[in-house]
Amino acid sequence: MKVLGIESSCDETGVAIYDTEKGLLSERLYSQVAMHAEYGGVVPELASRDHIRKIVPLIRESVAEAGLKMSDLDGIAYTSGPGLIGALMVGASVGRTMAWSLDIPAVAVHHMEGHLLAPMLEDDAPEFPFVALLVSGGHTMLVEVKAIGEYKILGESLDDAVGEAFDKTAKLLGLSYPGGPELAALAEKGKPSEIKFPKPMVNRPGLDFSFSGLKTSALQTWTKSSQTDEAKADIAYAFQEAVVETLAIKCDRALKQTGYKRLVVAGGVGANKRLRERLAELQGTVFFPRQAYCTDNGAMIAYAGALRLNAGESEAAVISPQPRWSL
Ligand code: KG4
Ligand code: ZN
Repeated sequence: MKVLGIESSCDETGVAIYDTEKGLLSERLYSQVAMHAEYGGVVPELASRDHIRKIVPLIRESVAEAGLKMSDLDGIAYTSGPGLIGALMVGASVGRTMAWSLDIPAVAVHHMEGHLLAPMLEDDAPEFPFVALLVSGGHTMLVEVKAIGEYKILGESLDDAVGEAFDKTAKLLGLSYPGGPELAALAEKGKPSEIKFPKPMVNRPGLDFSFSGLKTSALQTWTKSSQTDEAKADIAYAFQEAVVETLAIKCDRALKQTGYKRLVVAGGVGANKRLRERLAELQGTVFFPRQAYCTDNGAMIAYAGALRLNAGESEAAVISPQPRWSL
């Protein structure tokens, strides 16, 4: 079964074709980051308009690169939420319309399920069951994954997502957008110092997170500091250490609580080098998708959709993206 996957929930237009026998046949990604950088964040209306411009050419390229014709496709998977409504509407409308005209099934995929299953695209794919740490710009979650579709949320952020905390703190320190990778790069230049940030909620039982206080701590420390490049790098270092250590403590707790031996890390913040290093020290095997599959992409949606379609899942031909949608 050859499935076209479409991702358009935020600021990346991603398309890919996944073959349930041969694996990934092709993929294309267009990032709108440079356009939104001018505004210091994603502008939803501009995002939708850019998806509209890019999506059809990317699909054509991806189909051609796979050596296929449109009529060779057996199914379509598109991100139906959560995300920006206008952006989601583009992928959902194109996906549904193609499915209708080609007379093939289409399936609505949950964006976080895509992230969750992205590590399965790798050669050393994890076996079920596992604990997944989903860390993106919109979500921070620990999920118990028993099988495809059998997900139990063990804990999540009560306020800012980790990626959001990285982005907001980066902005407060005057770094350019998108802040997360910039802050991580600056942290590499920093060193351990007397600056220590709290590790939110680690002393409380449970697996929930809270990251919104960290940006305030970072701002206060910066305001009171010598405001040199060196001080900024040390603050970035301390911020990253606090976040990474908090995530590591909770992942360790989730592994112990479930008794599972595998941890899967997914979502944009999964690209963070320090986080990867620290989680690799935990008991058990840790699976990270390659960096391109940590951030938004079409391959993870094609894959998740292919599993669902292959299992015979079908749904009514309606276009109803869900900006808010629990996993
Ligand atoms: O999964 P993703 O591409 O989009 C969402 O669904 O949110 O995640 C994007 C988030 C952004 O907040 C970005 O700053 C963060 O992931 N991010 C990072 C790194 N690379 C991306 N945060 C920390 N360190 C990184 N290296
Ligand atoms: Zn994402």
